[in-house]
Amino acid sequence: MNSRSILNVLILDDEVDFTEELKDYFNNSGFVSYAANTVEDGYRLLSQYDIDLLILDIRLPGANGLDVLKKVKSLYSGIEVIMVSAHGDMDTVIEAIRLGAFDYMRKPLRFIDLQIAIERTRKFLFMQQKLARVEEKNSLINKNIQDSIGRHFVGKSSQIQKVFELAKTAAQYTDVNVLVTGESGTGKEIIARIIHYMGPHSDNYFGAINCSSITESLMESEFFGHKKGAFTGAVCDKKGLFELCNEGTLFLDEIADMPYVLQSKILRAIEEKVITRVGDTKLISTIFRVISATNVELDSLVEEKKFRLDLLHRLNTLYIHIPPLRDRTEDIAPLLIDFTEDFAKKVNKPIERISEGVFDKLMGYRFPGNIRELKNMTERAIILCNGHSLSADDFTLPAAYYNNPAVRVPEKDSNGVKLIAHEIEYIRKALEEAKYNQSLAADFLGISRHALIRKIKKFGITIVKSEGD
Ligand SMILES: Nc1ncnc2c1ncn2[C@@H]1O[C@H](COP(=O)(O)OP(=O)(O)OP(=O)(O)O)[C@@H](O)[C@H]1O
Ligand SMILES: [Mg+2]
Repeated sequence: MNSRSILNVLILDDEVDFTEELKDYFNNSGFVSYAANTVEDGYRLLSQYDIDLLILDIRLPGANGLDVLKKVKSLYSGIEVIMVSAHGDMDTVIEAIRLGAFDYMRKPLRFIDLQIAIERTRKFLFMQQKLARVEEKNSLINKNIQDSIGRHFVGKSSQIQKVFELAKTAAQYTDVNVLVTGESGTGKEIIARIIHYMGPHSDNYFGAINCSSITESLMESEFFGHKKGAFTGAVCDKKGLFELCNEGTLFLDEIADMPYVLQSKILRAIEEKVITRVGDTKLISTIFRVISATNVELDSLVEEKKFRLDLLHRLNTLYIHIPPLRDRTEDIAPLLIDFTEDFAKKVNKPIERISEGVFDKLMGYRFPGNIRELKNMTERAIILCNGHSLSADDFTLPAAYYNNPAVRVPEKDSNGVKLIAHEIEYIRKALEEAKYNQSLAADFLGISRHALIRKIKKFGITIVKSEGD
């Protein structure tokens, strides 16, 4: 399919009167048309001109219209074909439609049938062209996303290189589910996007849902979609994420917060690849890859019977763990440089120098909010700094996490301390440090205030202020 506004038509029929009449008619209707009265002539014109529409007689001397249709469809996939049939050809017409013909016309031609067929063809061909342009644009956008995602993933430590390599490998296996773990702000979402956009299905949908941010009642319809009238507020039919992500990727963020009752339904959809919308009975098949992310240990949730073991097994066919930034300090400098270049350009404040003191200071910091925290503090420093260079004073780091062994969090989980306990500890310290100002504490942690409030509620953290605070 080309993107010209004038469409080219070829009429292939052995009756000269018929082809001439039709040719005039098409020419007068804004098309450019050609006529052929033999199959050989037809093929010659097809190879010579950029034909959009072929009007093809089912009965041709010495040739079968269906064979010609098959050959044209295989040689020129963009050409639409309208068959011309005589009375009693209905079975052949049905076969032709099966083989990809777009429509048919009856002989002898009635003026009104011809008019309807032409209008329908014109609309159809223009829609095809529009679709082709949208698809082309979409794949260009995706190419840009793909390029920028790869380019903007920074890190030279062997740990992060390994993570990147694993993500690139996962990208090629589109039916493999991936579980990405790591503390808050380590880059789980960016890895999920790399897996999708570097894979062969990057033109298809990447649907993300944060399992902790929507209510249990809404969640089912988010995933499965609903039929109009299924519940109050279901004013029209709606596709759910499972359907939207067909041939694409479903990203389940904060998977640990998925309500237990929904877990078995999600598992069934993933395993059977068939769903029904809420309030409907129709079966819809959909194939998608699931990437899930969590910053809590799912094993302990399984022990506590809050997470289904069978779902965990289904989700972590491939497992990618992103280590915290404090365990790969070589990445601090390249990330800092990249964030500075990027943000300085954005706010139009050129930064010519980053003093050595900045690097030294950051190397001694434990980054509870990981990369997101580094990014936030870099942006803040660029806004606040005087002149065009960044110095250590432009970075204010909460003392609790700065070279302070007392609050160091155990590196690994081998001593039985659970990750949730670490998280609670982090949150408490940040709140103390921020004098219980939730916005500031959230900033220290590199998460949104909303997320912090959610976590305080979730973990039942009580805020005890000492006298005088
Ligand atoms: N290797 C990296 N290179 C460049 N930017 C990164 C890298 N890793 C993370 N980031 C940036 O850090 C921020 C946090 O990343 P992301 O949202 O992917 O983290 P997350 O692990 O999903 O966090 P959370 O658990 O809080 O949802 C984003 O702005 C992301 O672009
Ligand atoms: Mg995330």
